[in-house]
Amino acid sequence: MEDRLKALAEEARRELSGAPDAGAVETARVKYLGKKGELSKVLGGMGKLSPTERRALGEVANSVKDEVERLLADATGRVQDAALEAELHGPKLDVTLPGRGRPPGRRHPVSRTLDEVVRVFARLGFEVATGPEVELDFYNFQALNFLDDHPARDTQDTFFVDPAWLAKRPSSPVLLRTHTSPVQVRAMLGRKPPLRIVVPGRVYRRDSDITHTPMFHQVEGLLVDRDVTFGELKGTLSAFATAFFGKGIKTRFRPSFFPFTEPSAEVDITCVICSGKGCRVCKGSGWLEVLGAGMVHPNVFKSVRYDSADVTGFAFGLGIERLTMLKYAIDDLRLMFENDARFLEQF
Ligand code: PHE
Repeated sequence: MEDRLKALAEEARRELSGAPDAGAVETARVKYLGKKGELSKVLGGMGKLSPTERRALGEVANSVKDEVERLLADATGRVQDAALEAELHGPKLDVTLPGRGRPPGRRHPVSRTLDEVVRVFARLGFEVATGPEVELDFYNFQALNFLDDHPARDTQDTFFVDPAWLAKRPSSPVLLRTHTSPVQVRAMLGRKPPLRIVVPGRVYRRDSDITHTPMFHQVEGLLVDRDVTFGELKGTLSAFATAFFGKGIKTRFRPSFFPFTEPSAEVDITCVICSGKGCRVCKGSGWLEVLGAGMVHPNVFKSVRYDSADVTGFAFGLGIERLTMLKYAIDDLRLMFENDARFLEQF
């Protein structure tokens, strides 16, 4: 047995001195020291020996084991050094080259305009309010003075939500809000005047062609206080137009109709493409329509239990996609929703 152990040590010495790589060293480790390895095989027969013989053989076995372990450690060091050396002489890696980097993401132009509009009104003292996109007919229409059969309801091609999909029976029909104006009602029901809010958000209409998408964004504004005048509405919106489009932009108010404002106006700015000279975009008029506005209708105050003898107010609503297109001279609405990186990278 002692001879077999010594032969084993000799064999390990030969094998490990020639081991070419880490794989060969590991194979040798399993072969000699593994659970089913050579050393175990020899020691398995020790049970038959007398205690004295066993002790003597144990000593030899231990020293063989120590030696094989040392050989393995040496061989491991040697193959690692060799691998490192090979790498150093292999293909060159220039660690001083600049990294490839990742292009930073950019905010979508619609988000940028939304933020910018809100920021301008924040400087004028307006706070941000929000409301649900799935809305009750009551807030979207009824409380805004759209009576049941009012023809103005038809101008807002509405998506209705099937009541069968709802967990609870709603108190009025459920729809996707067609404008941000329902948040006026929610805000006024929620607190007492004075009130000065802007409401950014998504709105939905059954409308889809080159200039309309079924979802778009609006920012609503509402100011209610004592003695608020139409002059203040004009001043506020002119200040906004200058802040957003720059000096030299003029505004023009044209009479219009909304059920929830009286009087109502549509607001134009001088055409940003031709500076008012007349072009294809403004259809030769020199003006572009950018928002709807007016003085809060007494019936709206009645729905939210504000006293129109005590307060007056103005409201306005503007379309974010349209504003973005005018500001950056974008001529196709669809670009806003395609998420083409070549378009988005320009912002
Ligand atoms: N809600 C109107 C629309 O979507 C815009 C508007 C808001 C008009 C506030 C007047 C006052 O067309």
